[in-house]
This record gives sequence, C-alpha cells and structure tokens, in this order.
Amino acid sequence: MRNKLQLILILFFCLAGVWTINSCKKDKVASEVDQQLYEMSKTTAGFVWYKNTDSLLGKSSGSGHAEPFLRTRYNSIAATQLDTNGKVQAGAVFPEGSLIVKELLDNSTTIGRYAILYKQSGSEAADAKGWVWGYIDADGTVNQPASKKGSACISCHSQAENIDYMLMNKYFQ
Ligand code: HEC
Repeated sequence: MRNKLQLILILFFCLAGVWTINSCKKDKVASEVDQQLYEMSKTTAGFVWYKNTDSLLGKSSGSGHAEPFLRTRYNSIAATQLDTNGKVQAGAVFPEGSLIVKELLDNSTTIGRYAILYKQSGSEAADAKGWVWGYIDADGTVNQPASKKGSACISCHSQAENIDYMLMNKYFQ
C-alpha cells in the first residue's frame, strides 16, 4: 500500500516537471516572436508610408493608443495592398508576410513604441485571421506579448469599416 503511494507521488512529480519544462519552452518561443517583430519593425528600410508621407499625424479620436503622434508604414508585401495615394485598398486582404508598423511618438522627435501587425498564419502567436500582434517599446521592452494574440487589440480593430483589421483609412482620409 505504502509503495503504491510512493509510486503515485513519484509519477506526479515527474509529470509536474515535464509540464514546467514545456511551459518554459513555450514562453521562450513566444518571446522569440516578440524579438523577431522588434527587429523587423525598428528599421524603416523598404517600407512605404501611409499616404506616401512620413509626416507625423496627430492621434485620432478613436485611437486606443496613448501617444499623441503616429505614423504608419507597410513593408513591400503589405504595400501591394495600397493604392497609388498610399491608402489601403477597399476590401484588401493582406498576404502572408505583410508587416504593418505604427510608430507611436511621445513628442515630435522620439518614438516611444511600435504597434505591429504581422501576417504569419503559421506562427503559434497568430490569431484566427493569421495576424500576429506586437506592442513593443522603442527600447525593445515588450508591452503586450505576441502570445496574447491581440486580446487587448482585436475588439477595437474589428470595428465597422476596418479593412482586414486596419483602421488608418477610417480615421485618416
Ligand atoms: C480603442 C481602440 C484601439 C485599441 C484597443 C487598439 N488600437 Fe490599434 N489603432 C486604433 C486606431 C483608431 C488606429 C488608427 C490610428 C490612430 O488613430 O491611432 C490604430 C492603428 C493601429 C495600427 C496601424 C494599422 C491600422 O491601419 O490600423 C496598428 C499596427 C495597431 N493599431 C496595432 C494595435 C495593437 C498591437 C493593439 C493592442 C496592443 C492595438 N492596436 C489596440 C485603435 C485601437
């Protein structure tokens, strides 16, 4: 009887150990996603700006982002969904590999944070539409981990007139 109990206890601790190791692995994979998003987003090379201009915009009334200034850019894959004026085409569905970066600025010179949308449906951090959501400070500090799959972002970005979650067109005609 006592042996049985010991066996059960040993089994329990082994399982707990395996579970702990696995969840650590998951955290590591998740933070690698954030790191990758950060590296891809902090360079402006190869991006096209919303409405073809890098001028700063004042945040819109509908913004869920605290910083007063912003500007948004699209990597070459995402830019295929822009029209000649640099606005998102009506009904656009962004292809795999699309990266959209909104720079959030505290004042007219300093970027405080990047808000990132990266279409990568194979990622473990992807939401149901294949988007990975990043929210990372300019110094690399992760504000909202990608592993949260945009839980703090999606409901607002699903509002009427969004285009594949994009809201720039709605607030900046
Ligand atoms: C309460 C509403 C709201 C919430 C919550 C919100 N956003 Fe936004 N977001 C906006 C609006 C409005 C814009 C358009 C630009 C602006 O005014 O800031 C925008 C723009 C963006 C853009 C530029 C692309 C585009 O056209 O929409 C990205 C990328 C983005 N948000 C990412 C995020 C992420 C990541 C989160 C969650 C951590 C988030 N947003 C949470 C309202 C929101």
